Amino acid sequence: MIIAIDGPAASGKGTIARQVAAAYGLHHLDTGLLYRAVAKALLDAGASPDDEAAASAAAATLDPRAFDENALKAQAVTEASSVVAAIPRVREALINYQRDFAARPPGAVLDGRDIGTVIAPGADVKIFVTAAPEVRARRRVLELRARGDQVKEQDVLADLKRRDERDLRRAAAPLKPAPDAYLLDTTHLGIDAALRAAIAIIEAARTGRKRG
Ligand code: CDP
Repeated sequence: MIIAIDGPAASGKGTIARQVAAAYGLHHLDTGLLYRAVAKALLDAGASPDDEAAASAAAATLDPRAFDENALKAQAVTEASSVVAAIPRVREALINYQRDFAARPPGAVLDGRDIGTVIAPGADVKIFVTAAPEVRARRRVLELRARGDQVKEQDVLADLKRRDERDLRRAAAPLKPAPDAYLLDTTHLGIDAALRAAIAIIEAARTGRKRG
């Protein structure tokens, strides 16, 4: 079983994906980490995030087993990740890894921006998670403060909006729901309610498929 969970920045897709994977005993891949790792490699090397040659070289030599997830969540890396993610050669270099991951038995939950549209268009269930920008910013602020980052709410909101805009407008695999994705708005849902809603969608999709 492959479950695709896409959505804009800090929509709650990562938390939902992790918990859905645990509930169904599936592997989980946070694909944002791949773009973050490319961005961090460039920043560490003193290269600009829009340096296409450096970015595609970094994407081609990525080792996801060596990821330091905490370092990849830093704000500077976050901002640069959506710049490298707009480079077609970077995206191409990361496709096989994601598809191979999805194909590992017994299946996987992948979260990102283009899982339902590009990486796994044949996924068994696709969910597109949204929430109001102010609510997403609030959640991200709490997350960043919990890890010790001093951040201002208006800066985080501005970052989310800037990245959403870039992710929506790019030509390569833009952020958009697959035509057969279920929309899940978590603006008024806590973590438990969002997880229950996602599981209800997955169960309905599986039952519908068996009948159909
Ligand atoms: O956690 P958050 O939603 O803030 O970001 P993320 O999922 O870690 O993704 C960071 C950036 O990577 C996004 O702003 C996108 O530009 C890019 N990304 C992408 O283009 N395609 C994906 N499948 C996942 C992330």
